[in-house]
Amino acid sequence: MKNRMRRLRVNAAMRALVRETKVDIDDLVYPVFVIEGENIKNPIDSMPGIFQYSIDRLGEELDRITAAGIPAILLFGIPAHKDEMGSEAYHDEGITQRAIRSIKASAPDLLVIADVCLCEYTSHGHCGVVCGEEILNDETLPLLSKMAVSVARAGADMIAPSDMMDGRVAAIRRALDENGFHNRAIMAYSAKFASAYYAPFRDAAHSAPGFGDRKTYQMDGANRREAVRECLLDIEEGADIIMVKPALAYLDVLREAAQRTDYPLAVYNVSGEYAMVKAAAANGWIDEQKIVMENLLSMKRAGAKIIITYHALDAAVWLNEK
Ligand code: PBG
Ligand code: ZN
Repeated sequence: MKNRMRRLRVNAAMRALVRETKVDIDDLVYPVFVIEGENIKNPIDSMPGIFQYSIDRLGEELDRITAAGIPAILLFGIPAHKDEMGSEAYHDEGITQRAIRSIKASAPDLLVIADVCLCEYTSHGHCGVVCGEEILNDETLPLLSKMAVSVARAGADMIAPSDMMDGRVAAIRRALDENGFHNRAIMAYSAKFASAYYAPFRDAAHSAPGFGDRKTYQMDGANRREAVRECLLDIEEGADIIMVKPALAYLDVLREAAQRTDYPLAVYNVSGEYAMVKAAAANGWIDEQKIVMENLLSMKRAGAKIIITYHALDAAVWLNEK
């Protein structure tokens, strides 16, 4: 037979030689939740292995992350005080700002990406300013800009707006530049879909909307072409990295974004995707390590360079063992 595909599969060395895609520790970003208070390490029931840490307990987690060689964390702050305007989000002494200063002091080489959004900080749990039942767009932009500048001042290496308001990348870019932070990059949650896969995260970050849903700002899961427009718009506004979120149910969107842009592409393997794997693994129904590595490989193959995942610590340990 002229064409025998199995010739290049005969042994491990041959398979390694022709392997097209590889997940590397350098691709991984690990989300970290930091909560107000002291001596806290709270497990999140729906996300086994993930915890909320108070700043004084963060060190043990940072040690594991840096020892594993993970290059970056995505930081989420959970404040003690919430209000209508989410004022803790852009307070220089807020939980996120203090956490960033503490992390940069103890692990200066670890990249700190600050998630910028209001939903963890607002009493209504929406990502923008609320008027009645409406989530206001333009009124939200100055607050996001203030938060971006405040976390940049605290030392964040990168700003990751996750709110899905229109024009936020341009507003944040302008505010960063005006305040001397022209070298701080923006990783935009560009194609972020209104998804049921975020449910465990909302337990972890105390950020569930108090009324309604996020469908007037996050994308409709049916729309791939619109996702490309979102990516191109964020690039136009000055994003350095674009992101598709969630991951596995949206790999076609990721692929499309990879083909339609030349920008570094990130994907967010979200909390619900993590929870499903952990639940099946806990039941002994799947091989956790193999499933996780297969999932991460699929994201890379689809076109992501950067993979934000709650599996990052485990995956890095597994990759180091090889
Ligand atoms: C906040 C935010 C969310 C996630 C990241 N930033 C939740 C949401 O939009 O409701 C989801 C992350 C995950 O599910 O792992 N804007
Ligand atoms: Zn939000």
